[in-house]
Amino acid sequence: MVTRADVGVIGGSGFYSLLDDATEVELSTPYGPPSDVITVGRVGSRSVAFIPRHGRDHRFPPHRIPYRANLWALRSLGVRQVLAPSAVGSLRPELGPGALVVPDQIVDRTSGRVQTYYDAGGVVHVSFADPYCPSGRAAAVSAAESAGWSVADGGTLVVIEGPRFSTRAESRWFTANGWTIVGMTGFPESVLARELAMCYTSLSLVTDHDAGVEAGEGVTHEEVLAFFSANVTRMRSLVTDLIVGLPQERTCPCGQTLDGLKLPFELPR
Ligand code: ADE
Repeated sequence: MVTRADVGVIGGSGFYSLLDDATEVELSTPYGPPSDVITVGRVGSRSVAFIPRHGRDHRFPPHRIPYRANLWALRSLGVRQVLAPSAVGSLRPELGPGALVVPDQIVDRTSGRVQTYYDAGGVVHVSFADPYCPSGRAAAVSAAESAGWSVADGGTLVVIEGPRFSTRAESRWFTANGWTIVGMTGFPESVLARELAMCYTSLSLVTDHDAGVEAGEGVTHEEVLAFFSANVTRMRSLVTDLIVGLPQERTCPCGQTLDGLKLPFELPR
């Protein structure tokens, strides 16, 4: 029975399983329970933990996801590299549904979400200038290209509070700012991974053109879910390829995030 993992996958809408023949682990954390039981198994030579971000029955909307518990639980299983597939809207006409974006920047437009572990017992500021793991990004782009995806290497993900979609004016403003895609879950997930010195790579699947790009009715939840579900098999196979191609040794700076900082508590495992 494997109850240790070094790669973590946080599955998006409709992406409820990755590992067959795996062990289910029920964990509690100082931040409450994670979104669901975590499945732990193997992909090639890597041990992998999978957690469905919204819960298996999709009970957590983006602003209610227990982000701190999810990342803490993954780290306590031994995870140091996190892969995060998710559905996003496109802010560019040339980037249509079915494209994959591996963003290199993020803009936080959420409000009211707890976005740190370090809110008591001492002051800890982590660097977040480059929010994504460079090694994870390179491996993701390479795996996607090899599998024939239309992939954008880099781009800025703006994360909105949701659960509503953006107005046309908001969406046009995002585009005018030079941002590439819009989603609801990439933050604080990415910064919490960084605060635990874990690598974090976003695999953003474009499911729709956001309201400012599209002349039609605007985005609907049904449209997003249907598109993401129709692409889950493709996404699962990409994640599997990526896990196999992910460098085992971490040579990126992510693991040194907390070096020299005085932490108010001990990190799990
Ligand atoms: N997730 C998928 N499509 C989206 C959109 N247009 N806006 C925000 N989140 C999304």
